[in-house]
Amino acid sequence: MTQRLLARKADGTLDPDAIERAASLLRKGRLVAFPTETVYGLGADALQPAAVARVFEAKGRPRGHPLIVHVPGAAEARAVAACWTEAAQQLADAFWPGPLTLVLPRGERIPDEVTGGLDTVGVRAPDHAIAQELLRRAGVPLAAPSANRFGAVSPTTADHVLSSLAGHIDAVLDGGPASVGIESTVVDLSTPTPRLLRPGGISLEELAAVAGRVEVATGVIEEGPRASPGMAARHYAPQGAVTLAEPEALSAALSRFPANARVGAVVRTLLPPPADARIVQWERLGDDPRAFARSLYSALHRIDAAGATHVLLERLPADGAWRAVADRVQRAGGPR
Ligand code: TXA
Ligand code: MG
Repeated sequence: MTQRLLARKADGTLDPDAIERAASLLRKGRLVAFPTETVYGLGADALQPAAVARVFEAKGRPRGHPLIVHVPGAAEARAVAACWTEAAQQLADAFWPGPLTLVLPRGERIPDEVTGGLDTVGVRAPDHAIAQELLRRAGVPLAAPSANRFGAVSPTTADHVLSSLAGHIDAVLDGGPASVGIESTVVDLSTPTPRLLRPGGISLEELAAVAGRVEVATGVIEEGPRASPGMAARHYAPQGAVTLAEPEALSAALSRFPANARVGAVVRTLLPPPADARIVQWERLGDDPRAFARSLYSALHRIDAAGATHVLLERLPADGAWRAVADRVQRAGGPR
């Protein structure tokens, strides 16, 4: 049984007893999903190899994919990395706590299970009162991938977590919907020039303003060791068959779906055609990239829940403030 622990009382203040129960489970090596500003994480004590191994079982995720280690702040991050560079200090000063993961040379306390045997470790300080309180009470760094079955859409609510992991984890700490809605930016600082491995909550432009030149790791790595599993072509994907279309080609793409299709769609501004009985879910997320990011995964979860067999996604501009959310939309439509 997976318990739901309400992290806030009815008056909106944090419930220390619920958060302490979650922290105590984690210290015992159990699995607890918890809210962050990006998506819900599936937490385990990063210093207990057996607990971390259970994360992979619960997710159905292949071993060897590195997990992000969550800490309260830079002081604790220094303790999990072998060295703390000037770039790390500058980026942490600018963006922590926040949706930015720094990949650094791995400290000796971090077991192979966390890093997939890599000699680097990804570390981040979440900007979320409940996550911060949980980390403080647990007193250990928490390894946490997104709290979903492998390859499925990431969770931005406790209900999303339960719909995919109920029975596989000990508890979910319910803190309401995530405010950013897509995963953190991952930047590799173990190379001479910082390298963007995954676009996310902090934009490339924001990073470059602080770190100077930032290389962009491009291309999809399908074979061999992956620079980052978030780079897999198909990730963050709904259940139905996905069609990606430019804004002006959406209507034509819709008209090509079969007569018996159950259609879900995620678009910026297009209204659903009034008399198309095949449409089961039409998600119009608007023209603001941050609002779009906040709603995207909920929209995909609703489309899954509606049993869509065909999913139409509007292709987004792949730069500036749209880069990260365009990346997630693109990967949702990648080859299976
Ligand atoms: O926003 C987030 O980052 C969420 C919340 C829970 O913090 N977590 C998350 O974890 O998205 P996950 O496991 O779904 O994605 C972790 C990403 C992957 O792309 C992984 O490859 C990369 O971080 N990563 C972690 N450690 C790494 C390392 N040592 N080297 C390269 N990439 C690493
Ligand atoms: Mg994930």
